[in-house]
Amino acid sequence: MDPAETAELYKRLGRARRVAVLTGAGVSAESGVPTFRGADGLWRKYRAEDLATPEAFRRDPKLVWEWYDWRRQLIARCQPNPAHQAIAFLERRSQDFLLITQNVDGLHRLAGSIRMVELHGNIWRVRCLEEGKTTENLDVPLQAIPPRCECGGLLRPDVVWFGEALPPEALQEAFDAAESCDVLLVVGTSAVVQPAASLPMVARQRGAYVVEVNLEPTPLTSLANESHHGKAAEILPRLLAFDSAFRNPHSAFEGPGGPCSP
Ligand code: OAD
Repeated sequence: MDPAETAELYKRLGRARRVAVLTGAGVSAESGVPTFRGADGLWRKYRAEDLATPEAFRRDPKLVWEWYDWRRQLIARCQPNPAHQAIAFLERRSQDFLLITQNVDGLHRLAGSIRMVELHGNIWRVRCLEEGKTTENLDVPLQAIPPRCECGGLLRPDVVWFGEALPPEALQEAFDAAESCDVLLVVGTSAVVQPAASLPMVARQRGAYVVEVNLEPTPLTSLANESHHGKAAEILPRLLAFDSAFRNPHSAFEGPGGPCSP
């Protein structure tokens, strides 16, 4: 990690009035949750794009629910990792903060994040197709596949599928944050799925300092002010001085010259 870049980020975070973070599947990779487009992205022979659609659900709700049941069982065994924790730490250190996540696994909340929009929903919620009612469902494994509501209606996961609109309030909140933040961290997303992929562009156009953390270069890399390549669970705690801040809780974001400055 280039110390000059870390110093710049520190300075920006020290001065920032609003901080935003956008995360994707890569932030949960170190927790053991498979990403969508990585080598481990397939379930049986299916890609996410084959199953996470209203058409797939209409055609074969049992198959789609079997995939979600598999993912829920897998996620239930996972714990937040140091990347999730560093983001929760950043929230506590920031005046005005919003975490925008594309993840449906709920690990950010488990790590202590509060001010958050889940753009693609949450895998631990279900929605009745008859009543439209949304409820929490933590059954692992599911008692019946496909699960049904008390009213007899078919339940679906309360997540956003390909071809569906994102919840308008969540989307508005995410774009408001991108337009008004001073610093945007973009962590573990391939930055190809819209509209989330536009958020860093909007932030950059409005003058925010955009920092990417990803295992590899993405379409965002050339646009970001800084790009750090490697595992988020290793890079983020160092980048945000999460480790050292634990040793000295008053040190973070005091800017160059502060106790924790590189
Ligand atoms: P992807 O699977 O498309 O991308 C994951 C990104 O994380 C890739 O760019 C990887 O290089 C990076 N990555 C993997 N391991 C990492 C690690 N340990 N540290 C840092 N980065 C790592 O996932 P998303 O970008 O989240 O939507 O995908 C966006 C949306 O497409 C998902 O929310 C989902 C999906 O299909 C829906 O289901 C609607």
